Amino acid sequence: MGQLRSTGMSPYSFLGLALFMALVAVTYAHLPIPAADLPTQCNSIERCCMPTPYKGKPAYNFEYKKFKKFNVRRPAHLLTKKEITRLEKAYTLMRALPDSDPRSLLNQMKLHCLYCDNALYYPGQQYPLEVHNGWFFLPWHRMFMYWHERILQKLLKDDTFTLPFWAWDNSMDVKPVPNEMPAPYARKGSSLYDEARNNCSFPPFLVDLDTAGGGCTTKTPDFIRIQNDRLQYTQLVVGATTPSLFFGLPYYFGDYGGKGSGTFEDQPHGTVHAWLGRQDAPILGPQYHPYDDMGNFGRAAFDPIFYPHHTNVDRIWCLWTHIPGGKRTHPTHPAFLNTQFTFYDENANLVKHNVSQALDTDLLGYKFESYPTPWMTNGVQAGRENSIPLCNPLSKKATESLISSTPKQRSTQVLLADPITFKVARPKKSKGTEVLEISGIHIPNKTAQAHWKVYLFYPNVSFLTGAACPEFAGTFNWIPHVGQVAYNPDRVWRMGVGPKLLQMGKDYVKSIVVTVVQTGFPLQALTFDSAKIIYDNSPEVEL
Ligand code: C2O
Repeated sequence: MGQLRSTGMSPYSFLGLALFMALVAVTYAHLPIPAADLPTQCNSIERCCMPTPYKGKPAYNFEYKKFKKFNVRRPAHLLTKKEITRLEKAYTLMRALPDSDPRSLLNQMKLHCLYCDNALYYPGQQYPLEVHNGWFFLPWHRMFMYWHERILQKLLKDDTFTLPFWAWDNSMDVKPVPNEMPAPYARKGSSLYDEARNNCSFPPFLVDLDTAGGGCTTKTPDFIRIQNDRLQYTQLVVGATTPSLFFGLPYYFGDYGGKGSGTFEDQPHGTVHAWLGRQDAPILGPQYHPYDDMGNFGRAAFDPIFYPHHTNVDRIWCLWTHIPGGKRTHPTHPAFLNTQFTFYDENANLVKHNVSQALDTDLLGYKFESYPTPWMTNGVQAGRENSIPLCNPLSKKATESLISSTPKQRSTQVLLADPITFKVARPKKSKGTEVLEISGIHIPNKTAQAHWKVYLFYPNVSFLTGAACPEFAGTFNWIPHVGQVAYNPDRVWRMGVGPKLLQMGKDYVKSIVVTVVQTGFPLQALTFDSAKIIYDNSPEVEL
């Protein structure tokens, strides 16, 4: 300002220029999110605000902590008796903290809820901050786990304590079972137990990563194992070869809700939440909503299983970066790297953590114990042949005639009980990773769930077909947020289709035949503006 004054500008033209600049900034700038003052910037109808007045020191900038040895996060189903006792003690201590302490389990729940799109308002901004449904999903939750773990270490007076991970991604038929609820979390009376979980999420039920509304299923354990491996292969390996596909769409300061999740966020991450939630939770008390705790953003982090769920999400992020093929790195846009989120440290002081300081777990001082990931090879174990037959085997001729008889996508088409099928042309010259994009998704009732699945070259699907078919090309999940007022009306769904077509033996086609089928209840009259092939060159160019 001093500089402007010295150019001889009048205060009025300065004001005008400032207003104009602010308008330009709001309209065009892709700005990082500045660290929020959590206790004062909150306005939540879900009672998600952190305790006030703030009693800690002024917020400080995070710096990596010096350490001598890495802490190793271990699989929750393989913990020793001693490790289980220590973990239970940690949550007993955390639950015992008073409501005025931001480190209590209730306040950790609120901290997650606070960052969930209807509570954190920056001065002068119209819309609340959102860390889901976009590219901050992975780093924000990594930071949350990091600070949560440091708090537990402090409560235990033991910095060797680590959070375990719940290996729900692993479908091996072994004992103890990796993909059922880990035993310590399932024991009634334990500090790790939570009442607000659905009955069919307790052992011996296996995690159904392809569920829409959770609850019980008639699928056999063998079916679930195959389905889980294959859907993760689609969502995390062949369908997500770029940062944009894996992390989700950009979210800039001031945006109107998250515009679109990465493949990982919707499924399997989101389906684990849906699978655990208890539909009739309101019978437990007035503070509950249907599908609490894990099935709602607002209360999810009150269930201690939230944490081994999210350390596994964190682990899969690490593993994904080493899968061959594609550009498996993080977004590099300055608005991503320079965003700062505020957390409470182990002493209940506010700390500002930069996204660029959450991208390398080595610098954060932890590693994951290695554990097999059969989904990386489509569930095929070494030494066995990888031949998964298509559910709808089509000859080259039948494929061509299917393409020519399929109409083009129209924005007036309504997806209701019957699947809709349309064709999408593949541009002649490819300029990056080939992505199927469905945009302008309209969900008429945003307070209810909406789910659909996409298949390629398989028009005769039903809502029962499922992700075990190689034609499965991704899932869209809309999980409503209780009390949420602001929604982005223009959601986008994307999936990489190049490797999928190759895998299906259909790399030669000029158009793809896409079928969308709604899988959740209640059914909604869904529409979308367009479906097309686009090219992804992230991280160099943001999509
Ligand atoms: Cu913030 Cu698994 O959700």
